[in-house]
Amino acid sequence: MHLTRVEERMLNGEFGEALSVATKILVKVGEALGASKLIEVSHVHISGVSYSNIGEPGLEYLEKLALTKPRFSVYTTVNPSCVDLSLSSRIISLENWEKQAIINGILESMGSRASYTCMPYLLRRPFMFEHLAWGESSAVAMANSFYGALTNREGGPLTIAAAIAGRTYMAGLHLMSERSAKHVVKAPPLNNEAEASLLGLYIGEEYSEITQITGALGWSYSMVKEFLAASAASGSHALVPLDGVTPRGTYAVEEGVERSGIDKRELEYYYDKVSKALELGEETLVYVGCPHLSLSELRQLSTMLDGRRLKRGVHFLVTVPGTYRALGGLDLFLKKAGVEIAVGTCPIVSRITVKPDVVLTNSGKALFYLSKLHKFNVSLASLVDIVKLVSEK
Ligand code: F3S
Repeated sequence: MHLTRVEERMLNGEFGEALSVATKILVKVGEALGASKLIEVSHVHISGVSYSNIGEPGLEYLEKLALTKPRFSVYTTVNPSCVDLSLSSRIISLENWEKQAIINGILESMGSRASYTCMPYLLRRPFMFEHLAWGESSAVAMANSFYGALTNREGGPLTIAAAIAGRTYMAGLHLMSERSAKHVVKAPPLNNEAEASLLGLYIGEEYSEITQITGALGWSYSMVKEFLAASAASGSHALVPLDGVTPRGTYAVEEGVERSGIDKRELEYYYDKVSKALELGEETLVYVGCPHLSLSELRQLSTMLDGRRLKRGVHFLVTVPGTYRALGGLDLFLKKAGVEIAVGTCPIVSRITVKPDVVLTNSGKALFYLSKLHKFNVSLASLVDIVKLVSEK
């Protein structure tokens, strides 16, 4: 791999051990992937920071790294952790609070923002053709497919190395030659974010290569976000070009690619395969905010629940970015209705205290993880339908 003189000096330890180790990691991974050089990045998003997921080995790795006194050299954000930073939700367990506080302290001492969200694009909007090094599959899919930025789907340790070095390796989706769709699929008309989520799960499962979607023009921001998060969960999609949405020129469609369409009946059949029917259990958990809710989505939910109360046996959990610790009254109607807002976390990267017999969510990604990993009975439905079912005047 060709390195600049500065990068050679970084590698040789002239600027300290931390920078040397970080550069070595990037060079090694880059060489394995055939990269010809390193490139500077303007924003790193670190994933895999929850103690519930990385446990003692992850904590020990970070503690050891901290001894070399590393500093992040670029704008760096972090994914949700396993605790509710507002300490107000009874649904998110406080079990690993102390351990998580150490992890957060280490990352912040290196220079990360206390973002604790899977929507780093809300804190700093990526530019077209900008090189990033992001972890968190849903955010990576948004960066490439909605904003037209360039990032691979990186793992936790690699994002830390990129944040220290301010660079990543020039391979994969950083190269225009790797951003060509091999399939074009026409989506059926969709009505809401749950249907978009379902389509995302289907695309993730059925297509392993870059697949352009047509018929997405007119989708709301929430539909795009849920679609991409779901496709990145059930498949390994980091770029799903949406015709009319993804900035032109940031991807290509290969000549003579296979073109097909999905009809509504196919999706209905798939729904029966992956989702339970929408109904209340004796104990029901509603989960909304995967990926985290933005302020405008929170406002919409608040309006929907204005003057309503949750039915008996219903727990309602909403998750928002770590930067939303003060909501300025936006949470008033939600709290009045009995909704819990957890900040900087989510039930997939934490432990929950309730044992629901059914989980209702509008997120395909949440359905994927809560049913596959956590073995809950999960039903996918739109927020409007969920609110109608679980609350009353
Ligand atoms: Fe975010 Fe947790 Fe979903 S990290 S994308 S809310 S699984």
